[in-house]
Amino acid sequence: MRKGILLAGGSGTRLYPITQVVCKQLLPIYDKPMVYYPLCTLMQAGITDILLICAPSDLALFKALLHNGHQWGINIEFATQAKPEGLAQALIIADPFLAGSPCAMILGDNLFYGHQLQHILQAANEMSCATVFGYHVANPQAYGVIEFSENNHVISITEKPTEPKSHFAMPGLYFFDSHASEYAKTVTPSLRGELEIVDVINQYLELDNLNVKILSRGTAWLDTGTPDAIAEATQYIAAIEKRQGLKVSCPEEIAYSMGLIDHFQLKILAEPLLKSGYGEYLLSLLDKNFPDEIY
Ligand code: G1P
Repeated sequence: MRKGILLAGGSGTRLYPITQVVCKQLLPIYDKPMVYYPLCTLMQAGITDILLICAPSDLALFKALLHNGHQWGINIEFATQAKPEGLAQALIIADPFLAGSPCAMILGDNLFYGHQLQHILQAANEMSCATVFGYHVANPQAYGVIEFSENNHVISITEKPTEPKSHFAMPGLYFFDSHASEYAKTVTPSLRGELEIVDVINQYLELDNLNVKILSRGTAWLDTGTPDAIAEATQYIAAIEKRQGLKVSCPEEIAYSMGLIDHFQLKILAEPLLKSGYGEYLLSLLDKNFPDEIY
């Protein structure tokens, strides 16, 4: 069974003073904490055994918010990253938790939403090779960038190139086989002093064991590292939720729709949330019989 890693480390310096005492992934994106969104993405992929990695100073808050995940029919464990020394380091920290399982790692500030997303995630979960994604962005130099040959083969993936070879950025969601921690241990720090995830992914590429799936323009991939990005993500989620009357990345709803919790458990979860309207929403799900596609 593939396990999940949710990386909520980092010091959030691009958001100071907002993140001087509260970490980025606990900030709100419209009506829920940011960390709910990547957590739901893992759940939608069918992953229910998850390790959250955060800074030691944030551990108590994450535990208070997420508990052990059992309330949502999943299992959440916790580990800490003393310093933000790179995404590949998270794979090393997660090694004992993974214990030889394949994994999916998601960054705690990455939001995904869109048509067929659950299907795409579940397909990646079922593959034995590694899967990363490509997404067309206006500013590829801020990301890992994928270079394609004329016949659309992936040639290289480069971290934050000054002269990007394409407009396809690699979002912070990676599906790896059971060798990820082992490959991460061979990576040496980059010029910015981090163990870069691209150096793990390029090992898969060299072995011809990497699947790159392009997320279509009908999918939203947002990251939330700056005040503007947070404001834009908030407006985006608010617009969709108000228009549809359905919530985006609501863990209780996803747990219920996937059969991880039952009617009775959903009712109990709704109870303390009634004043914000979030609880009302959860209760409204009890009376609905959605066709499959709605999730
Ligand atoms: C990280 C990765 C980068 C990826 C990005 C997605 O960048 O290193 O390859 O495209 O996340 O959010 P960072 O958040 O460290 O700037």
